[in-house]
Amino acid sequence: MNQSQPEPHIVWHEHSVSRIQREQTLGQRGCVVWFTGLSGCGKSTVANALDQLLLQQDAKTFLLDGDNIRHGLCAPPDRLAADHSDAFAKRFGLGFGPEDREENIRRIGSVAQLFASAGLITLSAFVSPYRRDRDRVRQLVEAAGRSGDFIEVFVDTPLEICESRDPKGLYKKARAGEIPHFTGISDPYEAPQAPEIHLHGGDGHSPDQLAQQVLDYLRERGKLSAE
Ligand code: ADX
Repeated sequence: MNQSQPEPHIVWHEHSVSRIQREQTLGQRGCVVWFTGLSGCGKSTVANALDQLLLQQDAKTFLLDGDNIRHGLCAPPDRLAADHSDAFAKRFGLGFGPEDREENIRRIGSVAQLFASAGLITLSAFVSPYRRDRDRVRQLVEAAGRSGDFIEVFVDTPLEICESRDPKGLYKKARAGEIPHFTGISDPYEAPQAPEIHLHGGDGHSPDQLAQQVLDYLRERGKLSAE
């Protein structure tokens, strides 16, 4: 792999087991299926439905979900402060300002790229509101693999519907000014301009039907076989 080396004393070490060997063993191609959309748009629900459908096909997958990853790898400062110094928690803990989201997506993008390199069909569900951050992940994943390995899925559900669902009561709090930087209310969402898959979340299709659309795409693009 052609890795740039910004630090002269950190040198890339080639793995002895290649990605192609891993994919042949698994009988599939690694890729990243990147769900993006507003909070409450259905990203996690559709990604979980897709994960189930893929399991039934005996595919090897993993799901990275924003709400869960923010409990560990991308935890907020107050969570880190329980085990680390305040300075550490402040430096490495993540919130929802633009730079924190950028770092959130950079970390997840890097993890997703590693999982795809391991041959897994890697599903991710993050608001990821900034186009530039998503595009960086696309570049990273494709540079480490092949063109077409990053599949952007825009879960396009109108804000009014997301807000009426409000499964965690966050929109209500955001409207009351209790949550700063809330996507769609006090923070922007930059919709994908050319997503590989555009799902319409508010038009009566069930999560299973939307997941099926993604599964069909993966099958058509040969992701479910190593051939
Ligand atoms: S991202 O913008 O950095 O990609 P991420 O997907 O990790 O966000 O986390 C979003 C989840 O955190 C939402 O589903 C919601 O439950 C919760 N959340 C808490 N505060 C905010 C906020 N200010 N904006 C958006 N989501 C928030």
